[in-house]
Amino acid sequence: MQLQELFKQARVTLPSSVKPEWAGRTVSGVTSDSRLASLNSLFVAIDGAAVNGATFVPQAVAKGAAIVMSHHGPNAVTTIAGRDILHLASANPRRDLALLAAAFYGAQPAEIAAITGTNGKTSTADFLRQIWMMQGFRSASIGTLGLVSKGLDLRLPPLTTPDPVKLAETLHELKTRRVDHVALEASSHGLDQFRLDGVRLTRAGFSNLTRDHLDYHHTLDAYRDAKLRLFREVLPTGGVAAINADMDSETLAILKDIATSRALALRTVGMGGETLRLVSATPLPTGQRLKLCLNGEMLDDITIPLIGRVQVDNILLAAALAWDDEDSARQICQGLTQLQGVRGRCEFVATSHHGASIFVDYAHTPDALGHVLQSLRPHARHRLTVIFGAGGNRDQGKRPLMGQIAARYADQCIVTDDNPRDEDPATIRRAVMQGCPDATEIGDRHTAIAHAVLHAEAGDIVVVTGKGHETGQIIKGAVHPFDDAAVIREILTAAQGGSDIEAANGVNAHDTPG
Ligand SMILES: Nc1ncnc2c1ncn2[C@@H]1O[C@H](COP(=O)(O)OP(=O)(O)OP(=O)(O)O)[C@@H](O)[C@H]1O
Ligand SMILES: [Mg+2]
Repeated sequence: MQLQELFKQARVTLPSSVKPEWAGRTVSGVTSDSRLASLNSLFVAIDGAAVNGATFVPQAVAKGAAIVMSHHGPNAVTTIAGRDILHLASANPRRDLALLAAAFYGAQPAEIAAITGTNGKTSTADFLRQIWMMQGFRSASIGTLGLVSKGLDLRLPPLTTPDPVKLAETLHELKTRRVDHVALEASSHGLDQFRLDGVRLTRAGFSNLTRDHLDYHHTLDAYRDAKLRLFREVLPTGGVAAINADMDSETLAILKDIATSRALALRTVGMGGETLRLVSATPLPTGQRLKLCLNGEMLDDITIPLIGRVQVDNILLAAALAWDDEDSARQICQGLTQLQGVRGRCEFVATSHHGASIFVDYAHTPDALGHVLQSLRPHARHRLTVIFGAGGNRDQGKRPLMGQIAARYADQCIVTDDNPRDEDPATIRRAVMQGCPDATEIGDRHTAIAHAVLHAEAGDIVVVTGKGHETGQIIKGAVHPFDDAAVIREILTAAQGGSDIEAANGVNAHDTPG
C-alpha cells in the first residue's frame, strides 16, 4: 500500500511537506518492534516505561525500514546509516501505530465486541463467543485464554489485550476465514496504551470496577478513566454499550452520561438492570435457576449448568452484547441453558473420595476472591476452604486485603505461594496473613492443596484460587510447571488408587486456546 493511501485510510495526517516520491512509496509493513522491521517497512518508535523508543531507530533502519515515526521526529528526510529515511513526527505514536496497523491489514470482522472491567472479561468474552456460535455464527474470542475459536488453527499468545499490530493482523485473518463475530478482552493497560484504537468495534461491555493494577495506574480514578476510554473514545458513536448496573454507582453514572452524550445504544443488566434484569438466582447442586426480565417482561425460568453469582453476571452481560433485536434477545436468553463453563473460572474439578467438591478459580484480586467465595458458599453443605496467595512484583496493597476477604468469607484459609516472581515468598505470605492471622500457612502449593483436599469432608467445598487456567508457578524468572486442576486430580488419584474420582464436567475442555 502507498504511504499516502495508508495514512488516508488510517486517518492519520501525513504532513503536506512530504514530497510525492515519498508519499507514493509502497509500505511493506508496519511495526513497533525494530527486530521485525523489514525492507521498506514503517517503524513506529514507542517510548516504554524505561526506554526511549527512538533508541531502536538505527536497528529498524538496518533491517530495512524506510519510514520512521517517533514522538520528536523532524518530519523530514534524514540520513541514517547512509540511507535516506523519511522521519515523521507523531503526537501520539501508540495511537498512530494502532490506526496505521489496522489500515495496513484492512478488513475486520463485521461484529467486534470489547469487554472491559476489573473481573469477568475473559468469562464474558468466552460466553459471548459461545452464544454467537449457538446462533450459528462463526465466532472467536481473544484474551487471557489466547485466541479461542472452534475449528480454527490460529495461534495467539495469551495476553489480555495483544499488541495492536498483532491484533490488526489477527482480526484480518479471522475476517478472511469468515469469522464475523469476535469478542475481545480490553484490559485497562491495553486501553491506556491505545492498543484497541484501530479495532472497528460495534459493541462494548463493562462488567465492574474494583481495586486492581494500581501498581500501573496509581489511582483508582486513573484506572477507571483508562477503562472508560473504551466508551468515550474507542467505541464509535451509536455502538452498543452493555453494562452491569450493579457496579459501583460512580462508574455507573459516568457510563450512563457517556452513553447519552455519544448516542450509544445502552443495555443494562444485573439486579439493577433495566434491559435484562436478574430477578433471582437460586443455587442448585450443580447449577442455578434464573428468573429474568427482558425489557420489563418476565421470561420463563431457565436453569444454567454453572454455579456462582459471578457467572450469572458474566452470562447476562454476554447476552446483552450478543443480540440484535427483541426476537434474538429472547432466543439468546433461552439458549443460556446450553453454556459451558470457562476454564479456570469457578471450574469444578473433582469430587474427593470423602465427598467434598473441589474447584479451581482464577481470582487474584480481593474483589474477585470475595465474589467467588460468596458464589460458592450457597453450594457448600459443610465448610468452605480456600487455598490462595498473592503474586510477587505486583500491587502489594492488595495482599492483606485478600487475607481479610478470605477470612471473612471462608471457614478455613490456607495461605500458599502464587507466582512469587523475584520476591521472597515468605514475605508475601506474611503480608497476606496480616489480613487472616488464623490461616494455616503452607508455602509449597502442592503440599497446601494436598492438605486441604485430603482433609476435606463430605459436603465441603475446597477452592484453589489464583491460577485458574495457568499452568506455571513463576519463581525468579523461571516458570515451573504447575496446573492446579491437574495437581488436584493427581492428589486424589494417588490417595485412592485412581478409582472413583468424578471427572469434571461442564468445562470447555474441547475449546483449548488456539
Ligand atoms: N463478574 C464478576 N464479578 C466479580 N468477580 C468475577 C466476575 N467474573 C469473574 N470473577 C472472578 O474473577 C476471576 C477472573 O475472571 P475472568 O478471568 O473472567 O476475569 P478477567 O477480567 O478476564 O481477569 P484478568 O484481568 O485477570 O484477565 C474469576 O476466576 C472469578 O474469581
Ligand atoms: Mg482476562
